[in-house]
Amino acid sequence: MSRLLIALMLLPALAGHAIADPAAGRSIAKKKCQICHGIDGIAKIPIAPHLAGESQIYLETQLKAFRSGKRKNEMMSVVSKSLTDEEITNLAEWYNSIQITATIPE
Ligand code: HEC
Repeated sequence: MSRLLIALMLLPALAGHAIADPAAGRSIAKKKCQICHGIDGIAKIPIAPHLAGESQIYLETQLKAFRSGKRKNEMMSVVSKSLTDEEITNLAEWYNSIQITATIPE
């Protein structure tokens, strides 16, 4: 089967799915997330996790879980409440796009 045909078959599944815009995610992160998670995704407070390089799907799932109340945290439940699906996708794209390296101890 040609690639074009496969792409055409996938189109309906993708319709309605927002196209991620990491630059838009960055500007939301600057206003709403940076104080705890950093603009670079490296946590600034000890109880917040690092988000840099985390997978898009994981970040999106967690943000939606906080927003719906499925996952609870006194800070994140408040922060996520006002986020739209599009903003969540863009935030997830921003933090996912940050390149990280890990250095393990000798
Ligand atoms: C006031 C501090 C604070 C702010 C602001 C904040 N967070 Fe968080 N965030 C936390 C804490 C604390 C946790 C850990 C929650 C827990 O223990 O379950 C967390 C967890 C998360 C997680 C889950 C990560 C994981 O590893 O499971 C995501 C995703 C996340 N935050 C994204 C964001 C985004 C995106 C924003 C901005 C819209 C944001 N946070 C703003 C404090 C904050």
